[in-house]
Amino acid sequence: MNSNTSRRQFLAAAAMAPVAGTVMAAATQATPAAGGAAAFAFDHQPVPLPYRPGKLDGLSERLVQSHWENNYVGAVKALAVVRGRLQQAMADTSLPPYVYNGLKREQLFRTGSVVLHELYFGSLGGDGKAGAAVRSRIAGSFGSYDAWETEFRRIGNGLGGGSGWVVLGYNQHLKLLENYWMADHSTAPATTTPLLVMDMYEHAYQMDYGAAAAKYIDAFFNNINWEAVEQRA
Ligand SMILES: [Fe+2]
Repeated sequence: MNSNTSRRQFLAAAAMAPVAGTVMAAATQATPAAGGAAAFAFDHQPVPLPYRPGKLDGLSERLVQSHWENNYVGAVKALAVVRGRLQQAMADTSLPPYVYNGLKREQLFRTGSVVLHELYFGSLGGDGKAGAAVRSRIAGSFGSYDAWETEFRRIGNGLGGGSGWVVLGYNQHLKLLENYWMADHSTAPATTTPLLVMDMYEHAYQMDYGAAAAKYIDAFFNNINWEAVEQRA
């Protein structure tokens, strides 16, 4: 996945919707840190929710705010810590490369969490009604919109009680829309642009639905912002 492209697309989607609420207070744009090349010193700040946390149908304000604040912002902060440690490690010529790579592994994992959470929150805030154009495009790859939805839900239900992500993505290499199962933040399919992202970690629904993952998936579908999803295509 191209994280820069995904981020631009998320920001474009976020710009479409009204923004409000206390989460805005922490919002700033991501900019390369002064005094260092971006690849080593990129300063990624939390992106606000593109809607009030209490706006979603069937996903409580408490749940959405907690998810954004603790899991997403927590990942942003952790990524910043890892980046700082990487800068220190780069300056330490005695550090074995395999120890350095332990930090690179953390960077990969935290980056996946940050990007996927931004795409997840940006996938929501709509009325769940897919327009004719996106339904037709999905049907072009899956045979029908209903076949796509059935598989997407099935993958989600398979992750219920565990953790992972479900992604409708466009595989740039295969020129194909597919649904992907992802076990964690670092198992993204190659050359694939994520279009619709569903968080299946228990923290995404346990507060509202306990272990009833299928009810959370219903709520997710009722809140999909298809206009934002289409902009990622
Ligand atoms: Fe999450």
